[in-house]
Amino acid sequence: MKKTILTGIKPTGQIHLGNYIGAIKPALELAVEEDYSPIYFVADYHGLTKTIDSEDFRSFSYGIAAAWLALGLNPEKTIFYRQSDVPEIFELNWILSCLASKGLMNRAHAYKAIADNNRKAQKDKDYGVNMGLYNYPILMAADILMFRTGIVPVGKDQIQHVEIARDIAESFNRKYGETFVLPDYNIQEDTAVLPGLDGRKMSKSYHNTIPIFSEQAKLRKLINKIKTDSLPPEVPKDPDKSTIFMLYKEFALPAEVESMRQQFLTGVGWGEAKGQLFHVMNRFLEQPRERYKELMENPETIDKVLKEGADKAREMSVPFLKEIKRKIGFYS
Ligand code: ADP
Ligand code: TRP
Repeated sequence: MKKTILTGIKPTGQIHLGNYIGAIKPALELAVEEDYSPIYFVADYHGLTKTIDSEDFRSFSYGIAAAWLALGLNPEKTIFYRQSDVPEIFELNWILSCLASKGLMNRAHAYKAIADNNRKAQKDKDYGVNMGLYNYPILMAADILMFRTGIVPVGKDQIQHVEIARDIAESFNRKYGETFVLPDYNIQEDTAVLPGLDGRKMSKSYHNTIPIFSEQAKLRKLINKIKTDSLPPEVPKDPDKSTIFMLYKEFALPAEVESMRQQFLTGVGWGEAKGQLFHVMNRFLEQPRERYKELMENPETIDKVLKEGADKAREMSVPFLKEIKRKIGFYS
């Protein structure tokens, strides 16, 4: 039997190159493998735990959906929906809440990090924490368990959440009998953590991102902003320590990568290297950027795809929720 593979991205900013390399690209590669049934979604209710301006929330949500589609997700082969369009997830969220101990949530790292910082700043430990943020791992468990997920491809920071989903599933199964599949996470060890403009991990939180669908001129400008050292062109440079080279590798053909490596080793000017980086990145992004623009100008096309996806998801979630509720004793 095929294993269900499921992942979501929350709409809290514009999709950047790090999201593509670290999450979307590997997920799209797994989606075409024979052994998996892929389920990918826009985790909009998770995004809501960060209070965002309505206009931004709307545009980030559509932006994520459009990005997946523009970069190659095939909705015929992947169940693709908005989390908020599948109400059974939220019913399950409540059921799972009643099985999850508060202590488990106290130990969840996103909450714990905020509480620790608050303590250090001598503020109340719960300062700035809303209940959505606190319960975040339970909603994520509902996302995962609702679809009998076998594998969850995620970044390292999400491992604990998948473990929490497993713990909750085990508690349920012990109490009410075998019901949920215990999920495993899948970390792409070989996937680079893509550096941002300042050399730190590319992340919305550091404001150092290259939004993947930036217009050509903006893309060139952002690439020119990538921090480099002040070595003159003729001095040999270590390709493996360079943000420019790391980014180049992700978009260039093998022969181009080799040639760039040689140029680094014999000496290349940063302006020249950045020009070549722009060339390969733009070559790859040209078509997806057009498709993305088209989709964003026609949000009803995105709505239609997501609605169809939600209908397919609900073909599973409606009967499964009934089964779950029957086991608990809601009906005879
Ligand atoms: P951000 O750090 O910008 O807030 P998210 O936490 O929303 O990004 O990440 C969404 C997905 O993109 C996750 O699966 C995460 O592992 C991946 N990701 C984010 N930034 C990078 C990066 N710089 N390199 C590789 N993967 C990344
Ligand atoms: N918490 C994930 C993140 O921040 C997003 C997410 C929500 C998710 N529900 C999920 C990921 C279920 C995998 C499976 O990246």
